[in-house]
Amino acid sequence: MIDQRQKLDRNGVGQESKDVLQVLLKLKDEADAKMPLTMIKLKALLMDMVVGGTGSTANTVEFAIAEIMHKPDVLRKLQLELDIVVGKDNIVEESHIQQLPYLYAVMKEVLRIHPAIPLLVPHCPSETCSVGGYVVPKGSCVFINVWAIQRDASIWKNPTEFRPERFLDNKWDYSGNDLNYFPFGSGRRICAGIAMAERMFMYSLASLIHSFDWKLLEGETLDLTEKFGIALKKKMPLVAIPIPRLSNPTLYESCSICRFSLLYDELWKWVPFEIDSKLSISKRNHYLLSSLLVKVLSKTIVMC
Ligand code: HEM
Repeated sequence: MIDQRQKLDRNGVGQESKDVLQVLLKLKDEADAKMPLTMIKLKALLMDMVVGGTGSTANTVEFAIAEIMHKPDVLRKLQLELDIVVGKDNIVEESHIQQLPYLYAVMKEVLRIHPAIPLLVPHCPSETCSVGGYVVPKGSCVFINVWAIQRDASIWKNPTEFRPERFLDNKWDYSGNDLNYFPFGSGRRICAGIAMAERMFMYSLASLIHSFDWKLLEGETLDLTEKFGIALKKKMPLVAIPIPRLSNPTLYESCSICRFSLLYDELWKWVPFEIDSKLSISKRNHYLLSSLLVKVLSKTIVMC
C-alpha cells in the first residue's frame, strides 16, 4: 500500500485527496530534525492502528447492536436523541457526536459489560512492589481482570444488566484514574487510541442506529454469549436485518461512512453460504449482515 501510494504521488496522481498515509509520508520526507518520522516508525504506527484499532472497536459495536436489539427501550431512547439532534431528513456527521449524551452512556455501558480486552495486555513490574498487601515480584507477568472488576456486585448495582442510565450522571470516565472502571487500561500503557476509538464507535453506532431499525432473521433468537480470548468477541456473530428509517432513500447513497451501495457487492462475497441460502435473490437488496457490515465499516474508517 505504501509503495503504491508513493508511486501515485511521484506520478502526480491523487494530490488532491490527502489521506492519512499521504500526510504521514509528507512528514517523513520533511525529516523534522527534533522528531524524525522514519519509515520504520511510520509502519509501526500504521500497524498499531490496524492491529489495535480495528477488531476492538468492531467487536464493541457488534456487542452494542446486540445489546440494543435485546433492549428495545434503549433503541427507542437512542433514536429519539438522534432524531432531535440529527433529524430524520439528514445523516449523522462527526459534528453531531458531542451532542449525544445517551449514545455516550451506551458506549460506556458496552465497554463496562463487554470490555474489548478483558484481561488488558500483560504488564510486567520493573521493581518488586506491594499491591493491596500482596507482594508482586519484579518480572512477574500480571493480568488484570477488568471484565470481573467491571461486574463486581459490590461496586455495580445489578452488574449483569445492560443499563446505560448508570452512566448518565458522568460520574465515571475511562481515563484510567478509577480502578473500578477502566476498559482502556490505566497508567503509562493506557490505550493509545482512546480518542480514535471514541470517534469510530460513536460515529458508526450513531449512523447504524439512526439510519436503520434492526430485526433478527425469521426464527432466530438473540445470543449474547461471550467468547473469551485476548480480545472479547461474541460467540455467535450477530446476524441482523437493517430496515431503512430515514425520510428520503437518497440519503443512503450520500452517507460518507456507509456507502452501502459501494460496499454492497463486496459484502455479499463474504456472506457464508448457509446464511446466503436462507435468502431469496430478490430479497438481497433489502438484507445486509450487520456483523460483517460493522467490521467492514470499522476498517473503512481506519483506511480512509
Ligand atoms: C473500543 C476500542 C478499544 C478498546 C476497548 C481498547 C482497549 C485497550 C486496552 C485495554 C489496552 C491495554 C491497556 C493496558 O494494558 O493498560 C490497549 C492498548 C493499546 N491500544 Fe487500544 N483499545 C481500543 C481501540 C484502539 C484504537 C482505535 C487504537 C489505535 C488506533 C488502539 C491502540 C492501542 C495501542 C497502540 C495500545 C498499546 C499502548 C501501549 O502499550 O503503550 N486501541 N487498548
